[in-house]
Amino acid sequence: MITTTLKDQPIGFALTEEQRLIQETVREIAQKEFAPRAAEVDKNHRFPRENFELLAASDLCGMFFPEEYGGAGLDHVCYAIAVEELAKACATTSVLYSAHVSLTAAPVYSWGNEEQKKNFLAPMARGEKLGAFALSEPGSGSDSAAARCKAILKGDHFIVNGVKNWITNGIEADYYLVIAQTDSALRHRGLVALMIEKGSPGFTFGKLEDKLGIRGSSTCQIIFEDTPVPVSNMLGGIGDGFKVAMSTLDGGRIGIASQAVGIAQGALDHSYKYAKERVAFGVTLNQLQAIQFMMVEMQTEIDAARLLTYQASVAQDRGQPFTQEAAMAKLYAAEVAMRSTVKCVQIFGGYGYVTDYPVERHMRDAKITEIYEGTSEIQRIVIANRLLKGQ
Ligand code: CAA
Repeated sequence: MITTTLKDQPIGFALTEEQRLIQETVREIAQKEFAPRAAEVDKNHRFPRENFELLAASDLCGMFFPEEYGGAGLDHVCYAIAVEELAKACATTSVLYSAHVSLTAAPVYSWGNEEQKKNFLAPMARGEKLGAFALSEPGSGSDSAAARCKAILKGDHFIVNGVKNWITNGIEADYYLVIAQTDSALRHRGLVALMIEKGSPGFTFGKLEDKLGIRGSSTCQIIFEDTPVPVSNMLGGIGDGFKVAMSTLDGGRIGIASQAVGIAQGALDHSYKYAKERVAFGVTLNQLQAIQFMMVEMQTEIDAARLLTYQASVAQDRGQPFTQEAAMAKLYAAEVAMRSTVKCVQIFGGYGYVTDYPVERHMRDAKITEIYEGTSEIQRIVIANRLLKGQ
């Protein structure tokens, strides 16, 4: 659904023709194809493989990678726009897409050598292979440097042993970017980033999670028992794993900010429609000041969150540091998504609390944006480190 606020073309930020085209293209695909099955995907916890295949067929999986690696050569603003449009329709699809593009393919582009780009990036950019990112563990989420999954160098292979938790695209992926520890005494300076393929010896799947939201995205534990990984699958060098992970999350957080903006806008768009139709006390809801004020506040905050997200994307496109901008966008957008979707449920009243309308799903989907790719508390730490300590 298209509404008529400034949200599509914020003042001071005119979208280019290319960005506008991506917005229209992804919006059409998402509203026509993904929105109608979003409730079923959620209800059945079903991974919508066909959505990923359509994104691949539409040349969207390699969004900001050069054409020589199977990408589309577009900018990061286009990527943010695409994730928002997907999230408006189906948050599950937006996260399976962003975990693939910004958490797995992007670090291969930034940290990989030519051979790794040909072997891993190109098939992911073309959407032939699906990626997943494995950093968290049962005992380490926010404290990434405490990872205990071991990678011991033996000849030309690492032998990997350990468990990784909360893996988006879980059992569905083909390539896993795994952060593992070569020497725990070195903490973050002992970590390595390894590309591990599904089907590698000793690589199995653990618990499949039963989640509050984004229920169609496969989230599971992955387990390595004496899994041999060629040294040639390492991104960067020994000890670079933490920097690979953190720099990847910088880009990933823009994806989650876009997802949060999309979830919030999606819920509000449904509320605009409902408020025009629903009658109470002899008038439609949109004529009641209590409802108007809620909507005004929501749209103002969503527009601000979108601008923060674009600001971070522009900094990334310019090659400027954008760690702080990405953390600010994610922090703000996630909190806006949570409070907006709660208000949207309120506008729908009892109808907001049942699955007949999509706003309850948007509310459940919103919560994870305050948690994954760094909780809101972690974003505050990242921002404070840059703002106050000059890191
Ligand atoms: N880019 C590159 N390098 C970075 C960096 C960045 N953004 N941030 C930090 N570094 C470097 C530092 O320069 C420092 O380098 P030196 O060793 O050379 O000095 C090193 O990393 C350590 O930095 P810190 O001292 O700041 O690290 P820390 O241990 O204090 O941790 C933290 C900082 C912010 C808490 C970090 O651990 C963090 O972001 N944690 C949250 C992790 C997270 O987001 N997890 C989510 C899991 S992924 C997910 O959700 C999956 C999914 O599928 C959706």
